[in-house]
Amino acid sequence: MEESSDEVTESTASREQVGSSSDRRARPSIDLTKPPVRSRGPAQAGGPAKGVEAVDVDLYYGAFHAVKSVNLTIAPNKVTALIGSSGCGKTTFLRSINRMHELNPGARVEGRIVLDGSDIYAPDVDPVEVRRQVGMVFQTPNPFPTMSIYDNVAAGLKLNSSRMKKPQLDEIVERSLQGANLWAEVKDRLDKPGAGLSGGQQQRLCIARATAVEPDVLLMDEPCSALDPVATLAIEDLIQELKASYTIVIVTHNMQQASRASDVTAFFNLETSGDPGRLVEVDETTKIFSNPSKKATEDYVSGRFG
Ligand SMILES: Nc1ncnc2c1ncn2[C@@H]1O[C@H](COP(=O)(O)OP(=O)(O)OP(=O)(O)O)[C@@H](O)[C@H]1O
Ligand SMILES: [Mg+2]
Repeated sequence: MEESSDEVTESTASREQVGSSSDRRARPSIDLTKPPVRSRGPAQAGGPAKGVEAVDVDLYYGAFHAVKSVNLTIAPNKVTALIGSSGCGKTTFLRSINRMHELNPGARVEGRIVLDGSDIYAPDVDPVEVRRQVGMVFQTPNPFPTMSIYDNVAAGLKLNSSRMKKPQLDEIVERSLQGANLWAEVKDRLDKPGAGLSGGQQQRLCIARATAVEPDVLLMDEPCSALDPVATLAIEDLIQELKASYTIVIVTHNMQQASRASDVTAFFNLETSGDPGRLVEVDETTKIFSNPSKKATEDYVSGRFG
């Protein structure tokens, strides 16, 4: 049941998270209430991204309290891994960072998520604009199956920039595919369907699609769980490159992946089934994996439970 509701949410999100392109250097501060000024020249890669702060965040599905009292600072241009056993609320928390949680019927958010100084849940904020600035990559690669590779990457740009000229679109599609380390593999078949790519290629296509609209933050929910070890390492390498331009939050069950790919690790846990999940400990990844402060963290990272 969770899976099918996930699918609905993901396809909704794919439509809702797309947005317009902008030049990040032309945006000194953010206004989440309106779409940003569009890029006139080639989009910029690199440069400072934006940090996120969760303040007293509680998340509910109807009467069910899924995540309790999370306070977490997500540093810009770093990779933050969310780890913890199944059902502790990692995905729920991740989806609250781009206002996707509220797409579940009856879902509720309390507290604040602050993106570069602005509360994304403030009353005048447009959730579609939040999802443009905070992109999402899902567990199962979900390219639009009948759309060409080119159109998959351009989807978000076209939706909000119908007047964007073809040469500019071409340039952004190429840059996004280059950035996702996929260009060399697909440049001669851009007009072929996205569904014709391998799983690892599809996931890189989804990363290209997410980055084409130049978000500040990239959320990734177990992005490698459907991939083989080689494709997994390719995505991990890519994540290391992407953090020069983006703030990245990745959920993973793979402890080696968390220790290889992240700078900071946040451990979530729930004491008893039915209780809300909580953030137990957050620290530099090396510290979490070598000398965590809490026993529950040590038990989890050493494989004693979960
Ligand atoms: N759409 C939903 N409606 C009701 N409850 C939900 C929904 N989605 C998740 N939950 C519940 O919220 C809690 C947290 O779920 P969540 O998916 O965030 O866990 P998770 O840490 O991501 O787990 P996993 O590692 O298995 O992906 C669980 O008890 C789950 O059953
Ligand atoms: Mg999950």
